[in-house]
Amino acid sequence: MNKNESQDYRSLVIVGAQWGDEGKGKITDYFAQSADMVVRFAGGNNAGHIIEQNGKKLKVTIVPSGIMNSRVINVIGNGTVINLPSLISEMEILEKEGFITDTIKISNRAHLVFPYHIVIDEFQEKERKNKKIGTTKRGIGPAYSDKVDRQGIRICDIAKKDFKEKLKYNVEYKNKFIKAMFDGKPLNFEDIYNETIELYKKIEDKITDTAIIIEDAIKSNKTVLFEGAQGVLLDIDHGTYPFVTSSNTSANNAPTGAGISANLIKHVIGVAKAYCTRVGAGGFPTELLSEIGDQIREKGHEYGSNTGRPRRVGWLDAVALKYAIKVGGITNIFITLLDVLSGLEKIKICTSYTLNNRQINSLPACDEDYQECIPNFLEMPGWNEDITQVKSFDELPENAKNYLKMIEKICEIDIIGFSIGPDRKQTILLDQIFNHD
Ligand code: GDP
Ligand code: IMO
Ligand code: MG
Repeated sequence: MNKNESQDYRSLVIVGAQWGDEGKGKITDYFAQSADMVVRFAGGNNAGHIIEQNGKKLKVTIVPSGIMNSRVINVIGNGTVINLPSLISEMEILEKEGFITDTIKISNRAHLVFPYHIVIDEFQEKERKNKKIGTTKRGIGPAYSDKVDRQGIRICDIAKKDFKEKLKYNVEYKNKFIKAMFDGKPLNFEDIYNETIELYKKIEDKITDTAIIIEDAIKSNKTVLFEGAQGVLLDIDHGTYPFVTSSNTSANNAPTGAGISANLIKHVIGVAKAYCTRVGAGGFPTELLSEIGDQIREKGHEYGSNTGRPRRVGWLDAVALKYAIKVGGITNIFITLLDVLSGLEKIKICTSYTLNNRQINSLPACDEDYQECIPNFLEMPGWNEDITQVKSFDELPENAKNYLKMIEKICEIDIIGFSIGPDRKQTILLDQIFNHD
């Protein structure tokens, strides 16, 4: 790799290439060892990222996954939506665990999630009856709706003269909506106001124009990682709408959600499991409603890190992955949870779908069609060996090597690394991308 190429990796985006929970947190933490800054650019505490090092396990939802590295500045960017009570309790847990939260910086432009957003999220889900999205009920959709509707309240508003009036207007407006639509109980404005002011004081010193510090870091040749939340297939524009989250989850949103020029991003790592999971409703052609699915779920501990819900499990969907690579601007993929497939006699990869008796190689726009897609599989022999301690690609069993090579071939993209366990040590990088000389 020449020097210019390695320089491009100094602003590297890491996103999920499936329906979330691909292990982005783990991979971000791994790369953060050689980084100076990690920036979350979208989502809120609907995310749940587990990072693990030497048996020490952490869950972060809004704090960037660089937090286990004391020299890394962790930025919560303008594109995120922040629930203050949740952020503060997360920071308190981190401090108790011995991590330094002084490294956290919060964008003054980030929007806030208020209790009325959560109440509306819950009611809307209930109203959807058999068409539930399966949201995390963290108020994310309603908070982003307010942002787009220009009714949102941002962090920078809290210290301003008219904050009380603004919040009062919003609480009264939402109370009318909650009563009229769902016959729900009104929320108490004073309680929300007082709690917000009190919590604000705890983070005031971390609030800044983060776009400036990110740009400065990049210009002074620092390594900056942009950490995605959710996955490309949950992207509000390109995902399996309406069974998506309410933000742009792909790397294309990293510049907007962080406040930097799109020209600064050249490399995007898409993290993908060696199989697929989905938590929440929506089409899932390769879903395994069988013993094999249960086996993978148990072995991979496939239960939502945020909500505890069992994740739906399926074979690797290369059609969906190729689509995510294309629309999500992914330049390399990182395969995680490869170890979970050990012990299976056969492993399948979906290479096309059949819809209305025709073979298709891309995702249909409508979920109604997506639900009807029948997967066409390529079958490969599995391996029995425990691979959780391997240190290189060469140490993998032949069938595991062939599986990875097949993914590269079908998806027409290089695999940059793979992961064989939850711990940071169980990560194998195939290309030394941070060449700092
Ligand atoms: P994220 O939301 O993309 O950060 O992913 P989550 O943390 O929600 O879910 C991924 C889960 O898989 C976590 O419990 C990780 O500890 C775990 N994990 C990550 N990589 C591996 C791996 O290679 N093997 C195994 N067995 N577990 C992994
Ligand atoms: P991480 O960052 C997996 C899913 C929800 C639901 C849909 C909409 O840990 O990968 P929302 O609460 O965002 O309105 O829910 O999106 N979802 C996730 N699924 N991982 C996540 O985050 C998710 N965040 C949201 O289950 O289907
Ligand atoms: Mg997760």
